[in-house]
Amino acid sequence: MEKLWKGRFKKPLQEEINEFNASIAFDKRMYSEDIFGSVAHVTMLAEEEIISFQDKELIIEGLEGIKKDIESGELVISDDYEDIHSFVEGELTKRIGDAGKRLHTARSRNDQVALDLRLYLKKETDEILLLIKDFLESIVEVAEKNTSTIMPGYTHLQRAQPITFGHHLMAYGMMLLRDKERFEDAEKRLLVNPLGSCALAGTTFNINREATTKVLGFKGISENSIDGVSDRDFVLELASNAAITMMHLSRFSEEIILWCSWEYRFIELDDSCSTGSSIMPQKKNPDVAELVRGKTGRVYGDLITLFTMLKGLPLAYNKDMQEDKEAIFDSIDTLKQCLKASTLMVRTMKVLKDNMREAAAKGFINATDCADYLVNKGLPFRKAYMIVGEIVSYCLENQLILEELSLDNYRSFSELFQEDVYKAIAMENCLNKRISRGGSAPASVKKQIEYIKEKLKDD
Ligand code: ARG
Repeated sequence: MEKLWKGRFKKPLQEEINEFNASIAFDKRMYSEDIFGSVAHVTMLAEEEIISFQDKELIIEGLEGIKKDIESGELVISDDYEDIHSFVEGELTKRIGDAGKRLHTARSRNDQVALDLRLYLKKETDEILLLIKDFLESIVEVAEKNTSTIMPGYTHLQRAQPITFGHHLMAYGMMLLRDKERFEDAEKRLLVNPLGSCALAGTTFNINREATTKVLGFKGISENSIDGVSDRDFVLELASNAAITMMHLSRFSEEIILWCSWEYRFIELDDSCSTGSSIMPQKKNPDVAELVRGKTGRVYGDLITLFTMLKGLPLAYNKDMQEDKEAIFDSIDTLKQCLKASTLMVRTMKVLKDNMREAAAKGFINATDCADYLVNKGLPFRKAYMIVGEIVSYCLENQLILEELSLDNYRSFSELFQEDVYKAIAMENCLNKRISRGGSAPASVKKQIEYIKEKLKDD
C-alpha cells in the first residue's frame, strides 16, 4: 500500500516494520467517528473558501458512500493500510480522484486521531452510563423487596450489627452512583475539540474551529495546539473511572461468591447465570462473579499501561501514543461486559431471607444494643460495654444467645437490667431503631432507595 509520506522516501517499509507500525487492526472501530470528523472538517474548509464547494460536495458524498459500504459489509476495512485515517483517505481518493487529496488540508493525523478518539469515547461513555443505570435499577429493585430482610452486617468479616439486605445493596447503589457521576463529570473534559491543532502548531490557513466544534457536538475548544495533540488526560480519566467502577463490581462479586457458598447460603444464583463442574455433579459455580472479580485486574492493568506510556513523553505527538487505543478499548469493553453480566446476575438471583435471618440470630449482633440499653439506664458507655462483654463471654461458655439469658442472670451482671431488656435486644427492634440518616432501619433504607431513584430520574 502506498504510504502517505512516500515523497521523501526512497525505499518501502519492510514488511515486518509495516505490520509493527500499523494500528488499523484496532483503530478501525473508529471509522464512523473518522468520517464524521472529516465531513465537519471539509464543510468548514469550504465555508472558509479554503477548498471549493464542488470538491467539498464530492468529498462528502464519497465519505458517506464509504460509511454506507462499510456498514453494509460491501467494503471491508483492509489491514493493508496503516491506520483508519489513511484507509478512509485512500479509499476516498480511489473513489473520487484528486478531490480526495484535498481533504487533509489544514489537518494532521495528530489532531485527527485525537478527535476520533474523543468522539469514540463520548459514544462509549454514553453506553457505559446506560449500563450503570441498568445495574443500579437492578439492585434498587432487589433492595426494594428487602428493606426488612434482616441479615448480619459485618466488620472484619465478623458478624457485627443487624442490617438488612436492602441496606447492604444500597451501599453498592451509592458506589455506582458516584461512578456514574464520575463518568458524567469526565465528559466536560472529553468534549473539547482538538481539531485545528493540526500537527502541533496550528495552521496558516484561515480555519474556523468554532464551526467544527459546533457541528461535532463539542462543548469547548483546546486552547493550545501543542496540548491539543498531546493531551490524553481524557483517556486516563475514563480508564481510571473504569478501574474504580470495576473495583466496586469486584467487591460486590466477592460478596456474591461468599453469599452463594454453602457456608453462607444467603442467595442462590439462577441456573441461567451459573455454571457446573465437569467432574463434581453437585457443583453450581458463580463464574460470572468470579470473572468480574478477575477481569478487574486487566482494567487496572490498562490504566497502568496508559500512565506509563504517557509519563516520559516530550511534547507534542509521539508514536507511543498509538498504544493508548488498545488499552482504553480493552478497559471499556471489559467494563461494559462486566456491567451487563452483573445486571443479569442480580436480576435473576434468589434471596434466601430465612438463612440471612438465621445468621443474624447468631453472633451477638445485638450486643451493642444491649450496651446502649444500659447507657439509657444511666451507665457510662464504657462501663456498659464492659458488662455486656462479660455477658457475651458467659453466653459463649454456656452456648446461649443474648435473647435466651434469664433476667436473673442479666441482673447478676447489673442491677440495671429489667424485663424490658428483651425488647431492647429483639432483632427487629434493634433494626427499626437505627433511624439515623443512612442507617439500617427500613424507613432510612427506603429514603436511600428514593435518593438513588431520584438521581436516576434526572437522566
Ligand atoms: N495511528 C496513529 C495513532 O493512533 C495515528 C496518528 C499518527 N500520526 C503520526 N504522526 N504518525 O496515534
